[in-house]
Amino acid sequence: MDTYRLALIGFGNVGQGFTQILRDRGRMIADQFGLQLVIVAVSDLLKGSLYDPQGLDPAALLAAVGATGRIDGLAAPEHGWDALRTISESNADAVVELSYTDLQTGEPAITHLRRAIESGKHVVTTNKGPVALRYPELKALADARGVEIGVEGTVMSGTPSLRLGSELLAGAGVQRVQGILNGTTNYILTQMEAGATYGDALADAQARGYAEADPTGDVEGFDAAGKVVILANLLLGASLTMADVDRTGITALTPQDVAAAQAGGERWKLIAKVERRDGRVEASVRPTRLPVAHPLAAVSGATNAITFTTDLLGDVTLIGPGAGRLETGYALLGDLLALHRKRGG
Ligand code: HSE
Repeated sequence: MDTYRLALIGFGNVGQGFTQILRDRGRMIADQFGLQLVIVAVSDLLKGSLYDPQGLDPAALLAAVGATGRIDGLAAPEHGWDALRTISESNADAVVELSYTDLQTGEPAITHLRRAIESGKHVVTTNKGPVALRYPELKALADARGVEIGVEGTVMSGTPSLRLGSELLAGAGVQRVQGILNGTTNYILTQMEAGATYGDALADAQARGYAEADPTGDVEGFDAAGKVVILANLLLGASLTMADVDRTGITALTPQDVAAAQAGGERWKLIAKVERRDGRVEASVRPTRLPVAHPLAAVSGATNAITFTTDLLGDVTLIGPGAGRLETGYALLGDLLALHRKRGG
């Protein structure tokens, strides 16, 4: 039996979803995969910090945050360690980086990831900021230190889009990747088609935990742009930045636009696309009217979809959740299981 001790940096929706998975399925994971995942530390700016080198009880963490909004009322040998101290000084084997996403600076996550790698710890993250802005540098640092970086949850939450593209389709000649990569905007568009107002649909998406802390990132297309940069750089070997993405969000779409598309047998979708063209890789995010018979037009609510256009297989499409607590929490489990397999587990 292998054991990975984990330090969680951030205990919001995704951290709690991941903890719930360990609470409910930890025994099954150990039995099925020979892997014990033990949370030894949690450090959250708002909810408090705990460290117990022997392990913290996932059920107790969830009960505490559910009852009081904080975790630091629980007994543990250490309280109050900040993120960097937790990363450097805890006995974790892997750091689970879940601080808030900042697609402009990538901070504080870039600093957290660097510190973890420099401390010889593996990292898994669902945070798009550092991956969209600094992946090549972080990956090189990790390779030099002999540790792994898992980033599956940065695109389509736990739906394994990056692993499908980077491993299973790696030899098929991927030329274009396009899809619906933002759950919040797809949820809003679907709700507006059913007659909801933009404001109510957005509030609903926030209540369901799909939206970013600042939903501007969703509705103006920055979140999807970050994801296309990740796809371009990890799957198509490009070196794009956020500024290279031709980006338009959904905020200019009116109820009249939505109704006009419906009357014409079409639906608006926020389509994110990256493709090789004339030796370059081009990326865009833009609202697009699709005929209802188009496969992507049928993808509704917070569901995401991605189509890989390849030389050898033609189109391969993957549809699945793109946001949510358990769904994104699962991405972390997927990365940790991949790490375990890679290390011979
Ligand atoms: N805010 C994002 C979305 C979450 O709505 O898709 C997942 O990245």
